[in-house]
Amino acid sequence: MCRHLVVYILLVLASLYRSTHSAGTTPGIKEVFIGRCWQYQSISEHNKLPELKVNINCTKLWLAFYDSFAFKDPCTVGVDDYKTFFDMLHTSRKIKNALFWSGLHDLVTDFTFINDDYIVLEDTLTGYLLNNLNWCGGTDADGLNSTSCSKTCNVMTPAWTLASSEFAKRSTETAKVLLNATRANNKDAYADGSFFRTVEMPELQVDKLVVYLASSIGKEVRERCADSISMENIRADAEAKNIQVECIDQPSLVLNVYCLKYPKAKECVNKDNFRSDSNADKEEARKWMIVGIVFCTLFVVFSLTALIAWILKHKQSKHRTAVQMTKSGEVIANPQTINNNV
Ligand SMILES: *[C@@H]1O[C@H](CO)[C@@H](O)[C@H](O)[C@H]1NC(C)=O
Ligand SMILES: *[C@@H]1O[C@H](CO)[C@@H](O)[C@H](O)[C@H]1NC(C)=O
Ligand SMILES: *[C@@H]1O[C@H](CO)[C@@H](O)[C@H](O)[C@H]1NC(C)=O
Repeated sequence: MCRHLVVYILLVLASLYRSTHSAGTTPGIKEVFIGRCWQYQSISEHNKLPELKVNINCTKLWLAFYDSFAFKDPCTVGVDDYKTFFDMLHTSRKIKNALFWSGLHDLVTDFTFINDDYIVLEDTLTGYLLNNLNWCGGTDADGLNSTSCSKTCNVMTPAWTLASSEFAKRSTETAKVLLNATRANNKDAYADGSFFRTVEMPELQVDKLVVYLASSIGKEVRERCADSISMENIRADAEAKNIQVECIDQPSLVLNVYCLKYPKAKECVNKDNFRSDSNADKEEARKWMIVGIVFCTLFVVFSLTALIAWILKHKQSKHRTAVQMTKSGEVIANPQTINNNV
């Protein structure tokens, strides 16, 4: 109880600190960047997928990235400054199972770890390199600012804008988007100013968009597919681009990930919540139902056969005993008759 309170207070203090201070450039950023770049090419599973495979000189790539903002006043850095870097990363190879997301970073990490056939921006080299890094130029000897990065002149925003827009342009066929239906402060799932709404949606190249409205465990659900401002807006934006839209409330794919993490949550303890709602899940469920029915039928038939066999055998053996008894009766009766006759 007391430990929980202390942890809670620390969390509140940490979030207050974060909202007024922004960390400086990630220490060792060059080594992290170059290391990640080699890690991606030499070790990561993603680089084995033809649509994600890259072959790039990591030192050159770092220099292009560094030159985008080093020694520059953060307030002057825009998308044009990152042009060389993004040109090096550019590819037109299409991605069939793109997953976009907005407002739920932690869930996405867990979700894609388990459902690894979806491809998120962080699975591409660009997203992999920049994920969770902090950077900005300044007057330190290396042209960076290691103490704090301005929030008003954020040099990371243009990079993420370009990365997101490139990723959306590569999407094809069906894409999915995970949205947070339990956002705080009455914020819509399809939030104004979010990357998904402002950068990715306008660039989507897909035929169909499946919207997953995910709600955090234990939070009040603000929006449902059938009754949601977000869905109205998404449908309007998608229709203008000839994209078909499907919406799924708290998909089992998401709930199952939550329930692995929080097995004791009330949404998870009640097994009914492990429902199947996507077509694939329904098909799977149907398949298992058929297997179940066949198994049960076989079991019943087998049991009946065994029972009948047992009854028959029992009857037979009773009959046999009866016959035997009569026989022994005769045997006993005979001496008696003999005795009597004697
Ligand atoms: C990679 O680029 C750097 C910087 O331009 C260069 O010095 C190095 O030789 C290149 N490495 C390879 C393997 O091409
Ligand atoms: C959804 O948003 C709320 C509030 O903004 C946040 O507390 C919650 O963690 C988010 N859900 C996920 C799964 O990240
Ligand atoms: C780092 O950025 C802050 C503003 O966020 C600025 O006040 C400070 O002078 C900068 N320091 C360096 C070394 O660039």
